Formats: sequence, structure tokens, C-alpha cells
Amino acid sequence: MKIESCLECVRCSKNYDINKIRYLCDCGGVLDVKHDLSAIDGKKLKQTWENRWGLKRGIESSGVWRYKELIFDAPDDKIVTRQEGNTRLYPAGKAGKYAGIKNFLLKHEGENPTGSFKDRGMTCGSTAAMVFGARCVACASTGNTSASMASYAATCGLKSVIFIPSGKIAYGKLAQALAYGGITLQIEGNFDDAMTLVQEVCSELNIYLLNSINPFRIEGQKAIGFEILQQLDWNVPDWFVIPGGNLGNNSALSKGLQELYTLGIINKIPRIAVIQAEGANPLYSMWKNGSPFKAVKDPDTIATAIKIGNPVSWEKSLRGIAWTNGVVEQVTEQEIMDAKAMVDAAGIGAEPASCCSVAGAKKLVESGVISPDASVVGILTGNVLKDPDAVIGYHKDELRDKGIKGTFANKPFNIKANLAAVKEALS
Ligand code: F0G
Repeated sequence: MKIESCLECVRCSKNYDINKIRYLCDCGGVLDVKHDLSAIDGKKLKQTWENRWGLKRGIESSGVWRYKELIFDAPDDKIVTRQEGNTRLYPAGKAGKYAGIKNFLLKHEGENPTGSFKDRGMTCGSTAAMVFGARCVACASTGNTSASMASYAATCGLKSVIFIPSGKIAYGKLAQALAYGGITLQIEGNFDDAMTLVQEVCSELNIYLLNSINPFRIEGQKAIGFEILQQLDWNVPDWFVIPGGNLGNNSALSKGLQELYTLGIINKIPRIAVIQAEGANPLYSMWKNGSPFKAVKDPDTIATAIKIGNPVSWEKSLRGIAWTNGVVEQVTEQEIMDAKAMVDAAGIGAEPASCCSVAGAKKLVESGVISPDASVVGILTGNVLKDPDAVIGYHKDELRDKGIKGTFANKPFNIKANLAAVKEALS
């Protein structure tokens, strides 16, 4: 089942050859991979995907390449995969009660090979790098993209160059970038500065850019939605709730849903709620006020993964929100960390940015946008181990300088090594 594809500008619809490297349209708009779906039989395709479910090895055992017909027509010997995806969909437990939703599931993308959803985009992006014959790849990152890129580059022998805001990414992520051998440049400036710089560097030095401005990254990330729906036997939930930073992931989710709907693989489109941190909320401001896009100058949030003021994919994101009759919400620092405490205490665990999904869902239930009886899937984007400082700071109630109380703190005790001290502590 082969399909014709091209690159298409989200702003002016101009088309470009998919076999040539390009990230932006001449008009400055971001590009989509556009597939001609007219030749595809949706029923047959769904059966093909069902037949691949549970494969033990091989390219199609990946939770991205299982859906390869709608992802990327790359030759097998160029595909760079770590069997990414295949992540679990958990009942939200305590976090569901906290959000006030009876039928709440959490898709844990932190269970990917490098601990975040980025691996789904990266398997596709690094495959594109191999197809284009690149030798070196680069990205700007708040930490997870760089961890993922460094790993995938290492597995296929590419050099990787990482631009991160100095001192502003979580330790687990910095550790991964170094461990996997990425050339790590800590720049004086924030993520948005790094993003501008990496684009200039890639075009000057002929390096392949692997941020989500790269349309192939988005194609891989679409598979999150495909896999959730397959786990639900193609029963469509009422809502998806997802954090928003550079806005690639929600754009990918809506694009994938739109394609499944066009093919008749699903018969309704779920609504998408994109959740931003209050201190890094350009999409929320725009959506709420109906105003033109305006970057947030000095974004700030404890959820460092989404500390982004000038997201590259805002146009794609808004388009997806319109397609899905979606909404945008913002959450405070306290709301993020309290929701995280609940996700963690449910035994699931995720990094702060991920927990915007739960904090946002709770807020949208309280404001009557999401019904408590609705079926809701929240996306947890990164692993709890990515940011141990945030966990320990909260549980020791040491985040007061950031205006965050340890509402549900589980403080550690320091005790003498004897039975009496243990008894006292346990009482
Ligand atoms: N959650 C986590 C854990 C992330 O790492 C990111 C983005 C997001 C949510 C937001 O996703 O950007 O597609 O809207 N992290 C990027 C990075 C920017 O560099 O790792 P988005």
C-alpha cells in the first residue's frame, strides 16, 4: 500500500517535493507532510495494523512503524528504530479522582526508550536523516528532544549537536545527552534563543535539523493517537488532554486523527484540550483573547520542558484545535505540582510538564467544559525520573521561593538507626 506524499505549507498551501530537505515555506509558514489518502482502503489498513499488534521483533513491532503506511515510506534499511511506542494506557486511579473524571486514562509516553514521547518523532526524524544522507543532526531543546536525538543518532552512527539553555534543563535530561554522546552546547539564553540559533547553524553548516519544525518529526508523533485508539479497539474517547510547549505534539495528534477520520478508521473526532503553563502561555493568550500570535518574552515555569515563549508550530496547533473543536487552558505552578503529586501517588509517575494534562483536565471539569462522565485520555509526556529536583523540592516543601507549597508532600524522615526511632517515626 504505497501513497503519494508531498510537503505542504500550513499557511499558503504551496507544495514542495518531499524528497528535498525543507523545513519552511518561502512565505515562512511551517510545512506538513501531506498524504494522498484517496488510494487507501481504510478497512484493509486497519486490519493490517491489527495483524501487526503484538509482533515480537522487526520494524513493525515498533509502536510507530506499526502504522508505517501513514508515517513515512522509507526503505527498511534506512529505518532507525528502538521499538519505540508500545507504551501503556493506565486507569488514572487517584489522579482520576483528583481531576473529577470517572473514565480517565493516562497514556504514559514516559515509557519510551529515552523516557519521553520524543522517541516517536525521533525514530521518524532520524530515519529521514538517513534517507537524506545526513552525517550530522542538531536540535534546540528543553531537554527531552536532545536526550532522544542523542540516543537515536548514536544508534545509527550520526553525529549530534545539541543546543540547550544553560542551567535551565532538568538534570536527568542533561545526563542523557552527555551519556549518549551528543555534542552539548549550553547557550547563554533561553530555549527560544536556542531555537533561532540552531536554525541558522543548520542552514550555514549543512546539518540536518531535528526539532519538530521538521515535518517528519510530526509524522512519527502522530502514532501516539493511533496507538491509543488501537488500545481502545478504535473506540474514540470524548477528549484528549495534552501539554503544549513548542506545540508539535498536539499538532501531530490532531493531524493523525484527521487522517484516520478521512479514511473511515474512526467515526468521530475527539476534542483536544491543549494545556500550557501560565508562565509560558502564548497559545492560551491567543486562543482566549482571539488576538494575533504574540511570543511570551521571558517564559518561566517549573515545568522546564515547556518553558517556551515562541513556539514554532503555533499555526499547526491552532488548525488542529479548530479541526477537533478543541480548547486551550492554562495552569498555575501550584496546579501543575499538585497534579503531579497525584499522578505520582497513583503509582504512575511523570515529570512536571506531563502533569499539565491532569491539572488541565481538573480545571476543565471544574469550569464545566469537560463533563465528569466524559471519557478522557490524558497524555503523560515524560518519565518521573527526568526531573528528580522537582520531586524532591516538592516533597521536602522547599519550593516556596517559587510560590509552590508541598500540598501533598511526603517528607522523608531522618532518624537514628534503632527500633525506638523507627517506632516513633511510624507512629
Ligand atoms: N512534555 C514534555 C515532557 C516535553 O519535553 C515537551 C517538549 C512537551 C511536553 C511539549 O511538547 O513541544 O510538542 O508542545 N519538549 C521539547 C524538548 C520542546 O525540547 O524536549 P510540544
